[in-house]
This record gives sequence, C-alpha cells and structure tokens, in this order.
Amino acid sequence: MSEYWYKEAVIYCLDVETFADSDGDGIGDLRGLIGRLDYLARLGVTCLWLNPIHPSPGRDDGYDITDFYTVDPRIGSLGDFAELLHQASNRGIRVMIDLVVNHTSDEHPWFRSARSSPDSPYRDWYIWTDSEPPDRHQGMVFPGEQRETWSYDRTAKAWFYHRFYDFQPDLNYHNPRVREEVKKIMAFWLQLGVAGFRMDAVPFIIELTEPGKNPCPMDFDFLTELRQHVQWRRGDAVLLAEANVEPDRLPGYFADAGGSNSRLHMLFDFMLNGRLMLALARQDPEPIIEALRDTPQLPRGGQWATFLRNHDEIDLSRLTAEQRADVFAAFGPDENMRLYDRGIRRRLAPMLGGDRRRIELAYSLQFTLRGTPVLRYGEEIGMGDDLALPGRNSIRTPMQWSRAPNGGFTSADEPIRPVVDSRDYGYQKVNVTAQRHDQDSLFGWFERMIRTLRESPEVSAGTCAHIDQKLPPGILAHRADGSTGTMVFLHNLGTDDVRVDLSELYGEADDPNQVFGDRDYGPVGRLDALDLAGYGYRWIRLCRNPGT
Ligand code: GLC
Repeated sequence: MSEYWYKEAVIYCLDVETFADSDGDGIGDLRGLIGRLDYLARLGVTCLWLNPIHPSPGRDDGYDITDFYTVDPRIGSLGDFAELLHQASNRGIRVMIDLVVNHTSDEHPWFRSARSSPDSPYRDWYIWTDSEPPDRHQGMVFPGEQRETWSYDRTAKAWFYHRFYDFQPDLNYHNPRVREEVKKIMAFWLQLGVAGFRMDAVPFIIELTEPGKNPCPMDFDFLTELRQHVQWRRGDAVLLAEANVEPDRLPGYFADAGGSNSRLHMLFDFMLNGRLMLALARQDPEPIIEALRDTPQLPRGGQWATFLRNHDEIDLSRLTAEQRADVFAAFGPDENMRLYDRGIRRRLAPMLGGDRRRIELAYSLQFTLRGTPVLRYGEEIGMGDDLALPGRNSIRTPMQWSRAPNGGFTSADEPIRPVVDSRDYGYQKVNVTAQRHDQDSLFGWFERMIRTLRESPEVSAGTCAHIDQKLPPGILAHRADGSTGTMVFLHNLGTDDVRVDLSELYGEADDPNQVFGDRDYGPVGRLDALDLAGYGYRWIRLCRNPGT
C-alpha cells in the first residue's frame, strides 16, 4: 500500500446546495448529504470535495464568500458540518473543502470596511491604486462577462483589483496580516477535521499584483509556508490546487528549488483534460501520448488529480486553435454549448451522444491514467445538462435520485435550480434508484470499475507509461507499475474492431488475466492476439507482487 492516502483515493466533487435537500426548502443541505453517504460509500468514493460551503451572496455560485469561519445557514450549521465529518469518517470517507482565498465577496465585512475609509484597518487587505491603471482591461478570466480587472470604487475613491468578477476583490498577499488570516482559516477547518483543501485560483494568490506591471512577481515561498503550516496542524492533510498554467511552470507549484515536494501535494491535470477531449474528439490516442510525454516528472509525494468534468466549463485554452476547433466540432457544435471562447459547458454524457460505450471508454481512460481520479456528482449515472440555464449553471443542476417530482432532490415545488427534464436525460429516465437496481446500469459499471481500481493500487500510486509499440490506429496501450504489481491497459478510441499483439510483454507476465473490460474476451493467453471491439477497453493484470 502507498503511504500517501490521496494517491489511492477516489475523489467525488459535489455542491451541497444541489445534492440532496432534507428539509424541503428547495436547497440541498448538509443533512441531506449525510443521508446519502451510504450511497457514496457503495459507489466506492473515499474522499469528498465540497464546493464552497460558506455564506455567500451567491453571485459566483459560492465562490464569493462573506465569512470564512462558518457554513452558509441555507445548508445547515457548523454542528451539521461536524456531524457530516463524523458520519463520513465512520464510512472511511474523508472530506475536503474549497478554500477560496484569492478574493472575497465585495459584501465581506473586510471589504466593506476597507472601502469605507483609507484609515480602515482592512484597507490594506485589498489591492488599491489612486490612478487609473494602464492595464485595467487585461488578464480577465471571464471574457464577455467581465470588462476589466481594475474597477473604480466610488466609496473608496480608488481603483481596486479583481482577477475575476468586479464583486470579487482580490486579497493583498503583500500584507502579512492577510497571510496570517489565511493560515488561521485553514487551521480552523483542519481543527474541525477536514482532510484538506481544494485551493481555488492558486496562481493568482501567489501573484504579487502591481498596477501596470506584467508579469508580476510570483511568491512561491508562500506555498511552502502554507504547506508547513497545514502539515504541522494535521500531518495527513492535503492541498489540491487549481493551477491551470503552462506545463513548464507546474514544477514550482509542487517543489522548491531543491526538488522536494514541499509545496502542494496535488494539482488538477488541466493539460491532460484538454488532451483527453482532443483524443476522444479525433478518435486518436496521440494527444494522450503527448500529454504523458510532456507533463513534468513529479517529486516524491506529488500527485496529479485527473478529471473529465468539473463544475466549470471544459477549458480548451491550452490547445492550439486547430485542435480546439476539432473539439468544438465534435462536442460543442452549437454556439450555446460554448463559453468564454475557450470552453464547453456540457456534461460528458451528452457530449458523447449518450453512447454508453464511449462514456465507459472515457472514464476507463481517466481512471487508469496516472493520478487520483476526481468524479463530478451525477456523472456516475450519466446525467445531462440544461443549456437553457445561463453560463456554467447548465452543468450545476440538482442530483437526480429517483422518478419522484424534481428527481427526488427536494420535496419543494421550486428547487434551487430546475432538475433536468429532457427526453434523454430527464430524471424520469436517468436517476439513482433505477440504476442501483440494475447491474447493467452505468452506476453498476462505475461500482465495479472503482472496486477493481481499489484492488490495483499501482494504477494511481505507481508510475504510468505509454507502451510504445506499433499498434493499429486508434489504440492506446499503457501500463501502470507499482510495488503491488503491473497492469496493462488497452483502449480503442476508434470504431473498428482490432486485434493487438503485446506478446513482447509476455516475459514479464505471471499468469496474465483480464480484470476488467467492456466485455469478456476470453483468456488473454500469450498476449499475442488481444481482441478489442470498437470503443472497447481491457485492463490486464500482468503480475501481482505477493505480500504487498
Ligand atoms: C475557480 C472556480 C470557479 C470560480 C473562480 C472564481 O476558477 O473553479 O468556479 O468562478 O475560481 O472563484
């Protein structure tokens, strides 16, 4: 077994508000989530990542916070949160929360005070300048919805910086009091028992913004400081960060100049995400092979977090214009499916035309490539999206539990957001209750897939490499090696049935057998004639090291 729990985890991301409503007010809550922990345990989830749980005016779906030290009363109380931690822990499930400290809401008492007077003790907690910055229209994250990154505040009579929306003023990390406060926030939640944090917008936290300066200096040492602080408070706590940056910038987020993993434990693998989409769109494994080759080596302890869908749009900005056009053509042909010129605001199932074979193929790829898999709620039953909702809300609809009104999410007439009600993905058809009784359902498949993964710790905790042999077009072969053994994986991204020869690996094998696949292909023999259907996949155990 790996000494790092997060390397063998299956992380499930959910928003409490849209998961399960226990008190009939139309808004999901902590008690509702507690009631569904057995479901998550059955699925095989070992760690939850909760989207922001703090009080918020909700203008950016909770990523605009007004109080870091409690939970939004709409989802329950701190007592309910402590109970969630307890009940989850009883089932072997850890809980991570979003840590959104690049900015606050403009309604946070700190910002209200800061803008009220230059003498406010909080004035210097934010980033101000007296004259109009020359670069005030640069560096926007939400083009089309955002006009600028420096806005004039009439009350303060000064310009303030906001990397995201203008109601999300950035905190000033030049200020040691801000840095201390962030550590206090982390310590508070660790003390309650969270397993770590999904850190929002990390590159912007460590950017030491100055008007007119581009690029600004980056304070990577602050990450070392946070890591030390967290580790002293809770030895096994984990920092999982959102840092969608160029590949050559990634190592600095994990390690200091000495190369040891003294900063973040895990980063979301945005590069792989874009390349996976391209590979699926082109039915060609080459982009995945490139991703495996190009991503930097991680220091011991460092780990990627892989994902196909998260709560945001699929960000294709790191692909070339031509590559992006191919993904748009395949998965986001209508303007309404796209967002910010760079992304797609759809769930995976509809992107893949609801084709069960392709959905399995995509998730089999994600779960077998290196890293810890992160699964967005509802993907396990193949939920769809609602493109009538604005922006990213299309993929933030309530969980579909049953055929009951509003999908069993709430007993209220008005859920926080409409439940998907379309012909192909509506709750009448796509719901947990129907699928948990059906072994052949997508949920049943996820259950078996995750169980098999848990028996194969080398997959996420070991090394992952492309098997570089001449193979038929459309086929990806890769392997995972760890102290527990070796697995080999075949994925057919194309539609043609093929036969693959991997007999060169037979010498390494000790009674090789298929442990998972899209179907039973019979004995694997000497690995010289491995059949693979169109969109098929096979997980073959080459050898297991006894006693590990
Ligand atoms: C991150 C979140 C996104 C949010 C933004 C601002 O990118 O994933 O949902 O809007 O930060 O906090």
